[in-house]
Amino acid sequence: MRIFTQKADILNFILEKKASATIGFVPTMGALHHGHRALFELCRAQNEVAVASIFVNPMQFNNPEDLQKYPRTPEADLAMLEAAGFDAVFVPDAEKLFEGEDFPQPDLGSLNDVMEGKFRPGHFEGVYKIVWLLFRYVQPDKAYFGQKDYQQLAVIRRMVQQEDLPVEVIGCPTVREADGLAMSSRNMRLDAASREKAAAVSRYLLSLQRHFTLSAAEMKAAFEALTRSLGFEPEYIELADAVTLQPLDRFSGAPAVICMAYYAGPVRLIDNVTLN
Ligand code: PAF
Repeated sequence: MRIFTQKADILNFILEKKASATIGFVPTMGALHHGHRALFELCRAQNEVAVASIFVNPMQFNNPEDLQKYPRTPEADLAMLEAAGFDAVFVPDAEKLFEGEDFPQPDLGSLNDVMEGKFRPGHFEGVYKIVWLLFRYVQPDKAYFGQKDYQQLAVIRRMVQQEDLPVEVIGCPTVREADGLAMSSRNMRLDAASREKAAAVSRYLLSLQRHFTLSAAEMKAAFEALTRSLGFEPEYIELADAVTLQPLDRFSGAPAVICMAYYAGPVRLIDNVTLN
């Protein structure tokens, strides 16, 4: 596996390959886990050249402490990518990556007014810009993202459309631990007791997916009571249209999603389930 730290070097590698091979790309912030592995396997299976990136993007952190505490496991990450049979990984350093770049101005529309957009100001602008930049140097035919970041996936699809990029964006199902907890790099920061309680919150969400009869207001009240009873701090839970992500009062039977965010101590966790 080739490891590139400079934009010009990954671009040369890509340009050499691109004439005769399809490029698959998995952008990551490292601290890789089994959820990432599912993305790597699909990317590897569907493309002749498989490329990943590892970069903890400062532009998407609205909270400096969250950026500082974001887990970093570089050796294990490279070992996982090597084992997944990847051809290359791009591990840029921030200063050089942003040098000389003229970023587009993200237009996120109403996607930015709800849930993660509302509670993490600037977050999706940062995601939009970094994914645009990574696509510029990796030039993927297909790019893979987890549905655990459901709203992020919608933002990236919008970015590809707005910037008119020839990239197929592929969303991959959330991978869960046996007890229901959605896999996330942030889980590494949970102590054993919080980890167990967080799994109970995910199981509540999964129970909503199996049989959803509540109004959004009833669901919000139940979520708040549950998270507080576990000693967590609820941020939001929303029933939303699966495509526009605008809030709904009730589930009508049309595709919808339930997204939630809460704090388990200092660790912010998100999860979602779709309703069809
Ligand atoms: O989902 C992530 O890991 C990040 O938001 C991404 C897409 C790699 C952009 O930094």
